Amino acid sequence: MELSGVRILLCTCFIACGAQMIYDGDISTVCGPSNKCRCKTISEMDCSRSNLNLSTICEFIQNSSNNTTVLTLTRNRISSIYKKDLNGCENIIDLDLRYNEMVLIEELAFDDILNITHLNLQHNNLSWVYTKLDINIGLSNTLQSLKISGNANLSLPAGTFVYPSLNNLANLEILYMDGLPDTVLSSSYKYLVKLETLVLSGKYGNCRINTIMNETFETIQGVKHLNLAKCGLREIYAGGFQSLRKLENLDLSNNVLLGFIPLRNVSYSLQFTNIKVLDYSKVHETFGLTTEIKQRDLCYLRNTSLVEINLSRNLIGKFEQNAFILLPDSLNKIRVEDNKFTFGLYLLQLGCVSNVTEFYGSFQNIPHKPNVYDDEPLVNDSIPWMLSLNDCPYMNPEYLKNVSKTDRYCRYFEPGHKVNVRSSLPIIPQKLKKVEFGYCDMVYDIPKIFVWPAENNVEYIVLSGNVFNNLKGPIGPFPKLKYLDFSQCYCSHIYPDFFKFGSYTLESLLIQQNLLGKVLSDKTIAPIIFKDLVHLKFLNLSTNTIPSLPLRIFSNLNNLEILDLSVNNLETLDFDVYNLTNLLHLHLRSNFIQSLPTELLLRLDENSMRLKKNFTIDMRDNTIRITCESKDFLSWLAKHKSNMVKFSDYKFVDQSGKSVSSEEFLVLVRSIDKDCSSYTTLIVICSIGISVYLAVVIGGVIYRNRWNLLYFVRNAKIRHFRYRQLNDLDEVQYRYDVFISYANENNEFVFDKCMPNLEDKGLKLCLHDKDFIPGNNIADNIVEAISNSRKTICILSKAFLKSQWCLYEFNMARMESIYDRNELGCLVVVLLDNIASKDMPTEMLHWIRTNTYIEYTDDERYQAMFWENLQGALSDRTDHLQ
Ligand SMILES: *[C@@H]1O[C@H](CO)[C@@H](O)[C@H](O)[C@H]1NC(C)=O
Ligand SMILES: *[C@@H]1O[C@H](CO)[C@@H](O)[C@H](O)[C@H]1NC(C)=O
Ligand SMILES: *[C@@H]1O[C@H](CO)[C@@H](O)[C@H](O)[C@H]1NC(C)=O
Ligand SMILES: *[C@@H]1O[C@H](CO)[C@@H](O)[C@H](O)[C@H]1NC(C)=O
Ligand SMILES: *[C@@H]1O[C@H](CO)[C@@H](O)[C@H](O)[C@H]1NC(C)=O
Ligand SMILES: *[C@@H]1O[C@H](CO)[C@@H](O)[C@H](O)[C@H]1NC(C)=O
Ligand SMILES: *[C@@H]1O[C@H](CO)[C@@H](O)[C@H](O)[C@H]1NC(C)=O
Ligand SMILES: *[C@@H]1O[C@H](CO)[C@@H](O)[C@H](O)[C@H]1NC(C)=O
Ligand SMILES: *[C@@H]1O[C@H](CO)[C@@H](O)[C@H](O)[C@H]1NC(C)=O
Ligand SMILES: *[C@@H]1O[C@H](CO)[C@@H](O)[C@H](O)[C@H]1NC(C)=O
Repeated sequence: MELSGVRILLCTCFIACGAQMIYDGDISTVCGPSNKCRCKTISEMDCSRSNLNLSTICEFIQNSSNNTTVLTLTRNRISSIYKKDLNGCENIIDLDLRYNEMVLIEELAFDDILNITHLNLQHNNLSWVYTKLDINIGLSNTLQSLKISGNANLSLPAGTFVYPSLNNLANLEILYMDGLPDTVLSSSYKYLVKLETLVLSGKYGNCRINTIMNETFETIQGVKHLNLAKCGLREIYAGGFQSLRKLENLDLSNNVLLGFIPLRNVSYSLQFTNIKVLDYSKVHETFGLTTEIKQRDLCYLRNTSLVEINLSRNLIGKFEQNAFILLPDSLNKIRVEDNKFTFGLYLLQLGCVSNVTEFYGSFQNIPHKPNVYDDEPLVNDSIPWMLSLNDCPYMNPEYLKNVSKTDRYCRYFEPGHKVNVRSSLPIIPQKLKKVEFGYCDMVYDIPKIFVWPAENNVEYIVLSGNVFNNLKGPIGPFPKLKYLDFSQCYCSHIYPDFFKFGSYTLESLLIQQNLLGKVLSDKTIAPIIFKDLVHLKFLNLSTNTIPSLPLRIFSNLNNLEILDLSVNNLETLDFDVYNLTNLLHLHLRSNFIQSLPTELLLRLDENSMRLKKNFTIDMRDNTIRITCESKDFLSWLAKHKSNMVKFSDYKFVDQSGKSVSSEEFLVLVRSIDKDCSSYTTLIVICSIGISVYLAVVIGGVIYRNRWNLLYFVRNAKIRHFRYRQLNDLDEVQYRYDVFISYANENNEFVFDKCMPNLEDKGLKLCLHDKDFIPGNNIADNIVEAISNSRKTICILSKAFLKSQWCLYEFNMARMESIYDRNELGCLVVVLLDNIASKDMPTEMLHWIRTNTYIEYTDDERYQAMFWENLQGALSDRTDHLQ
């Protein structure tokens, strides 16, 4: 009853919360004709995918006080725009008509929209085939951004595509258009005096520009951002960008037929610009021979203010020696990802790019998948329009030598000179902060590496995805290192002093997805590895098959905030948390953890309170058992469920092994205290029940055999401590001839009569009063005495029967005679008093009935006979021995 009630409540809440979330997440409200649109504010209406036509929407806007100024109408299958459709939309400032099916825009259609600043007609079917010249669609001179790319239909015959007239657009700043050869040179450009961004890229539409000639961009001299990516470029004239004095950003990427030969022309013309960022990535086929970047390709860059260069995905094998000296000092960021660099002296000249702070070189040598191979036609090598580039003034050795001399970390190598690479320290750019060489197919053990300059600025190193089986080190110094990523490196061993120097500033260490389980669970090595990383805030050790963590592994990580141990084989977290006073986030997903130690929970609680930040734990996929032993932890967990990452995904296992969801868990845990105490009671009751049953059923058996059992236990114990040869009984040497078992009340009889009588006959007696070893367990003493004596005499009296120890001695002797000696004669019973048979224990009565005993009498006449009998009973074996 209660459970289903809770479920309904949860469901209701979930639905309500879900609905609430959807409503809250998208703050827009419904609006527009038939409420088919969404409005963020009263002026912004989004009628995408509404199946409404333009005239309906504009009429609606007119009917409702004309406030809408931003109108989005993408994907409405609008096929044409006539002037009358726009009646009511006169106040529109921003109109987005992307992804419709427009084939026609009437002449002067936009004539009445006087204040429009942004118009987007991308990805329609406007081939403008109805006119021969630029069509005047009435664009207002208020327009700042016009995007019309994605319309040129390349299946139509060349020349049928015509652009709308741009003559009027003196305020246009941004223009996206399809880059087709006959329109690039459109005379309209000359009116675009404010144009800053020109995107002709095939990324946004179609681009078929094969050649950039000296005059191609002559008419748009104010352009700062020029995007010619994916245009099928093959040739660039040396004056190609010369007129673009304000050019800052040039994107020539994804022109796979371009190659590196035009780079010298590009470099040349960039001298006349204000270039900051050059993207020259993917200008090479995916497959083929690697390229060496020559001095002459980069030479004129020396005379530019280039800040960032991207040469990624180009099959570059190396740079020509001394080429780095030619890179401009302004260069800040180098991207050379996905190439195939081999060793070369250029690697020892990294010090020459002294101003570089970021170096991205990941993904070297990755095997590209041939299944995405396009048949990329070969570049024609004999290009007549190439600049004669032996003119580049910076390429002469004297100049290069002088440049290198100004920087102590920049080395010049004489051509043809042998260089001893072994003795050359790897020099890194002085200002380098960030370096990435992940997934470069490096396969080494990382040896001891000293980098130069020692007072470098490296803060961030990514080397993930290589194969470094052993991190031997130490590497460094990196006095400012903050972030180090060695993840996914098949690394199975870290030497204890790998981080020995230069890493004391380290804040983030990522060594997840390795094979470090063994070394990280090693009590002696693991704590030393992390010993010095006192500034560490984030430590990722996930996916390392760690079976356990030693106590002191994180003992010095006083600043640790986030610890990721997910996807390991951990069952417990026993590490010392005393110093983890900043720990707030613990990732433990996919382990075998059943509960967390109290110290850790207290630590997190305390940290959270002191730092005034919530702590979080992720314990998903640990299938926590709901057992009474961990009930305190489970209650804690339920109480802190808001601190659990994705608590709703937690899975539990109940007493019966059934999987339990987090919701059901919360219900179960509410009564866990009660259930567990009643469970304990149940256990107690059951145990008692079982005990009683056992007592009744088996107890009788045990009771009957209790002496057998005791005997075996005792004897086993003695034998365990003292090995006694039993192979041949005759050979056995007993310490005593007779052990006399008697009650203290019969002292007189034993000491005054037995002792003199028997000792006179030369028998060695063992009496508990004089021969038991003080301090030993009495029971042990007894068993020892019995087994060390050839015979045992029990002086049976009323007192004997009352003494537990005497009965014990009797029974042990009886057992000995039955089991060990294989002859009954070793136990001699002397009946001192008259004892009624009903007063005797069963086994004694049984013994007396089946075996002989000697009766003592106070009558002097019969006493001689008694001693004779006794002596006879004791002598049958002693005779034999003597
Ligand atoms: C626009 O839609 C309305 C109603 O759906 C229809 O009456 C009208 O003819 C349509 N106008 C055009 C130009 O398609
Ligand atoms: C606009 O108002 C006119 C007259 O008031 C009405 O006939 C027409 O249906 C309205 N149009 C829309 C789209 O609301
Ligand atoms: C919207 O503007 C038109 C033309 O300016 C005007 O005729 C119409 O009354 C306006 N609509 C409202 C609701 O104000
Ligand atoms: C919308 O237009 C009406 C009248 O044209 C005006 O009273 C109202 O303030 C406008 N609302 C906004 C948010 O501009
Ligand atoms: C266009 O903007 C000007 C100045 O901002 C304003 O006076 C004029 O009313 C606007 N015209 C329309 C149709 O919104
Ligand atoms: C675009 O136009 C071409 C040729 O005019 C035609 O084949 C194609 O189907 C049109 N596409 C759409 C979406 O209308
Ligand atoms: C293009 O410009 C370059 C550099 O200004 C010049 O050397 C070359 O002669 C020009 N080529 C043509 C065809 O005008
Ligand atoms: C080096 O870079 C800094 C900014 O990162 C810049 O201010 C400085 O001018 C650059 N040095 C040179 C020689 O360009
Ligand atoms: C806590 O850290 C200090 C150094 O910061 C260290 O000396 C001390 O042994 C650590 N305490 C424990 C309990 O590990
Ligand atoms: C901590 O969690 C509570 C409850 O989930 C939340 O209300 C509070 O904003 C959180 N505080 C911080 C600092 O994140």
